[in-house]
Amino acid sequence: MDIQSVKLRFGIIGNSEKLERAIQTSLRVAPTDISVLVRGESGTGKEVIPKIIHNYGHRKHKRYIAVNCGALPEGTIDSELFGHEKGAFTGANSARKGYFEEADGGTIFLDEVAEMPLQTQVRLLRVLETGEFIRVGSSKTLKTDVRIVAATNKDLEEEIQKEKFREDLYYRLSTVTIQLPPLRERKEDILLLFRKFAVDFSEKYNMPIISLTDESMQMMINHSWQGNIRQLKNITEQISIIEKERLITKDLLLKYVPNIDTKNLPAIINKHSGNDFSERDILYKVLFEMKNDLFHLKSLVLDIQGKNGVNMSADNAAYLQQIQSEGQTQWGGNESMAPINVPASNNNIVSISSPSEYHDSVEVEESLSLEENEKQLIKKALKKHRDKRKLAANDLGISERTLYRKIKEYDI
Ligand SMILES: Nc1ncnc2c1ncn2[C@@H]1O[C@H](COP(=O)(O)OP(=O)(O)OP(=O)(O)O)[C@@H](O)[C@H]1O
Ligand SMILES: [Mg+2]
Repeated sequence: MDIQSVKLRFGIIGNSEKLERAIQTSLRVAPTDISVLVRGESGTGKEVIPKIIHNYGHRKHKRYIAVNCGALPEGTIDSELFGHEKGAFTGANSARKGYFEEADGGTIFLDEVAEMPLQTQVRLLRVLETGEFIRVGSSKTLKTDVRIVAATNKDLEEEIQKEKFREDLYYRLSTVTIQLPPLRERKEDILLLFRKFAVDFSEKYNMPIISLTDESMQMMINHSWQGNIRQLKNITEQISIIEKERLITKDLLLKYVPNIDTKNLPAIINKHSGNDFSERDILYKVLFEMKNDLFHLKSLVLDIQGKNGVNMSADNAAYLQQIQSEGQTQWGGNESMAPINVPASNNNIVSISSPSEYHDSVEVEESLSLEENEKQLIKKALKKHRDKRKLAANDLGISERTLYRKIKEYDI
């Protein structure tokens, strides 16, 4: 499985080595049942890792349950996780299965695991060691087969010192540790992320995309981002909504990130991430992804229309048939979560109505045509993979069949 398609499928933006290593490790451990501990500062993107692990493993058709241990009150967490018998405590009017029973055969993500009370840690350790647990208020031992992925932004070693976390559980959970880097250690991804969020929020709020002056770009790159990607996302959202001016200058940025460093400006900005795809190429991938969402939506609407017996024009009926057969070949039918692929070029498929809307964000000086850029991207991918179509299609996140047709269509 290649990293690029995982990124597209889960909406992960970034090309830094540390991020890619985290994705790579997730893919390696996915087919096993090994417990995984995901670590990293707050807002670094830990929550996607257990989803990758679940969806690329043999448990993908079984349940995936995410539990925020910090959000469950100490008094109810045991019953939530392990279930209870009728009358186990006041208000327990009937017996109830816990998440460990519900997720049998699947995966449980224990988020903010450092917040788990000590008595629950004992129960968890037992499940990890033997697969056994007991419902609250019962004496009967039950069995379950659950894979555990846990996450924390806390220093667990320190929690062990403070006797708030069991050392034996720590060793059990962290058979494999996946570390998510803070944003300041993946500076090459800052502008990519900003632009992705800027595109998303402009879509969400139906407003033109915000963009940065060279000076504010440099400030963004220099900043330490204590709240990591979440902070960057929040700030991009605030600016997108509040500011009328869409070009964000140094002074505007200062209003939203008051502690941002304004020294050492201006400097040269490295707009390219290594010799791989440039950020503009990745933005076009994002646009294709949006195009794909529209494609899905249209297919869904037509499908519903069909099911409800709403009269469909002959054109629509033909179109529905066409995209359904297209969808089946592209997504192979019964995947629980279909990988995101670029739809085949088709005049009926909704395309971005006005590419110039994206001008600010992508800073395209030459052609703004999506088609032209798609063509360039394909050429680039073919060159990169020395005309090996399979590899190029993979990198582009499209099927080989679609690539073949596009090569013919664009006469590449
Ligand atoms: N590489 C990425 N590309 C796009 N969006 C990302 C990426 N990483 C994180 N995000 C977004 O940033 C936000 C914060 O990520 P997430 O909730 O996974 O953080 P976290 O590591 O779990 O933080 P905490 O420890 O505070 O719970 C989410 O909205 C997530 O979608
Ligand atoms: Mg989280």
